[in-house]
Amino acid sequence: MPLLIKNGRIITESDDYVADVYCHDETVTRIEPGIDPKGLPMASAPLEVIDATGKYVLPGAIDPHVHIHLPFMGTHAIDDYESASKAALAGGTTMLIEMICPGPGDQPFDAFELWRSKAEGLAAVDYTFHMSVVRFEEKVRPQFTKIVQAGVSSFKVFLAYKGALDLSDEHLFAALETARGLGVIVTAHCENAEAVDAMQRRLLAAGRTGPEWHGPSRPPLVEAAGVHHLCAFAQLTGAHVYTVHTSCDEAVREALGARHRGVNVWIEVVTPHLVLDESYAERPDFEGAKYVMSPPLRHKSNQRVLWNGLKSRAISTIGTDHAPFRYAEQKVMGRADFTKIPNGIPTIQERLDLVHTYGVRTGRIDLRTMVDACAAQPARLFGLYPRKGTVRIGGDADLVVYDPAYRGTFSHAASHSKVDYNAYEGWERHGRAEIVTVRGQVQARDGEFVGTLGRGRFLEREATHGD
Ligand code: URP
Ligand code: ZN
Ligand code: ZN
Repeated sequence: MPLLIKNGRIITESDDYVADVYCHDETVTRIEPGIDPKGLPMASAPLEVIDATGKYVLPGAIDPHVHIHLPFMGTHAIDDYESASKAALAGGTTMLIEMICPGPGDQPFDAFELWRSKAEGLAAVDYTFHMSVVRFEEKVRPQFTKIVQAGVSSFKVFLAYKGALDLSDEHLFAALETARGLGVIVTAHCENAEAVDAMQRRLLAAGRTGPEWHGPSRPPLVEAAGVHHLCAFAQLTGAHVYTVHTSCDEAVREALGARHRGVNVWIEVVTPHLVLDESYAERPDFEGAKYVMSPPLRHKSNQRVLWNGLKSRAISTIGTDHAPFRYAEQKVMGRADFTKIPNGIPTIQERLDLVHTYGVRTGRIDLRTMVDACAAQPARLFGLYPRKGTVRIGGDADLVVYDPAYRGTFSHAASHSKVDYNAYEGWERHGRAEIVTVRGQVQARDGEFVGTLGRGRFLEREATHGD
């Protein structure tokens, strides 16, 4: 059914104005003040009219860093495309980019097909993937070309997780060279795997086994060393790179220093690092395990650096790194040894509201920067713009009618993820995605799913990071 959103304050990455938005056949077809429903084509046909007076009309948010199907640390992330889509939509996210993370023995193309099969027929948001490269010897390289031809124009590499996902320097160099040739951007988890491994062993040998030791086993220098290493290889190969979940001053400085030297590097931050600090992982009685992720939560002083980087747009995107593991059955696997706690702080539902409450309302960033980091930049960097990521005529009608006056709290009771806790339980919340549309169809209202599972589409993307 066509949709007319009246009198909303439209916020894009660059504009802020009041107008009506008319959507037909999955796209935005008119944006102007005072659109008269009687003057629309087929005026007698059913039309959904939404009064957005006093509300924001935002482009559907895009989460550039999500894990749904994830075999990891001896277990599996527990969401599926049903729970993850519902959670995403409830929080105003209409498209996500999931990481395909095969094991070292898996065939890359098989992994691509497996991950795609998990989404097909179930996703209620549009989706695409970053293809992880966990080995890159000669014989698997043609498979990556095939994956890029199938529309996946970004790779992922891990410099961390020794013996599991980490890539050797030989393979990293070759992967970056190939990516450059294909015009593919390489996203990277930057922590030095060897240093982490050695420090973990040292801590465990000293009897330091609790979740509070996760952070000390991978301090800022370990992440900065990873960013430096990635950027050096990017400089040598000419590849375009993107540092995921960049958590601290030291790592941001490394990336900006490399950019200053001419390296094409972009920076992502994720919501947990913007609002949580290391004290959460130090909570007693193993409660800290809920807050174990990598890179770890940092000293609070880093948050100012991350928000300021967003404000100046030196930092491009805000993702979530949604990596959902239940506390009761999964986080407890590491009760006697912090290195066995599955890493991840699920946040796919809370991202926009956390950024609005703790970023926009506090004056750390403005609304346009929120839209830029949560929608426009993920679309631009990953070959989706201007179809996605903004509000414009001809773009997909992925829209959020956002009520900035809503007051509530974050809670597990309201969350759609299958995780058994909410890392932000009881926190004050200002704002809510009241209506969320995916290609013109209302998929969520007031935090509840009202749409169609399986409506989400795999979007093929062009490789745009060539010379
Ligand atoms: O702690 C995290 N980040 N878990 C998910 C895997 C990753 O490194 O992104
Ligand atoms: Zn990571
Ligand atoms: Zn991740």
